[in-house]
Amino acid sequence: MPRDVIALASDHGGVELKALLKEELLKLDHGVLDLGTDGPDSVDYPDFAEAMAEAIRSGNAKRGVLICGTGIGISIAANRFPFIRAALVADVTTARLARQHNDANVLVLGGRVMGPETAKDCLRIFLETPFEGGRHQRRVEKMGLARN
Ligand code: RB5
Repeated sequence: MPRDVIALASDHGGVELKALLKEELLKLDHGVLDLGTDGPDSVDYPDFAEAMAEAIRSGNAKRGVLICGTGIGISIAANRFPFIRAALVADVTTARLARQHNDANVLVLGGRVMGPETAKDCLRIFLETPFEGGRHQRRVEKMGLARN
């Protein structure tokens, strides 16, 4: 049986990395919901963060991956939605801790600042690491963030 559906979205600064991670997700037997963008033309990252929020809110995707040039703009935009816990990560350690401690449901990467192999490793770790709960559950709840 295929694994959970993972949504992917990026602006023009992340389009190449998005294509690579899409391939990786398919290899890992995940369903993929590709929300664009699909080419080099300049687009606005808040629109793609909003599309991701809708995919998660509706249940069309369990988790997501967002990419812009640095990951900064698109993570700020995504975290405006109360049910999104988007974590901009720099390496496999922050990808792991984003799940263990923050129960992040969206992985955010910088397409212009992270190499492809590190990005694939971050994706795999993000998908396979469970939330630790306990004291971290209390902290997530204190931020008023609904778990989904
Ligand atoms: C687009 O040029 C760039 O500003 C965007 O991808 C991102 O890095 C913003 O935070």
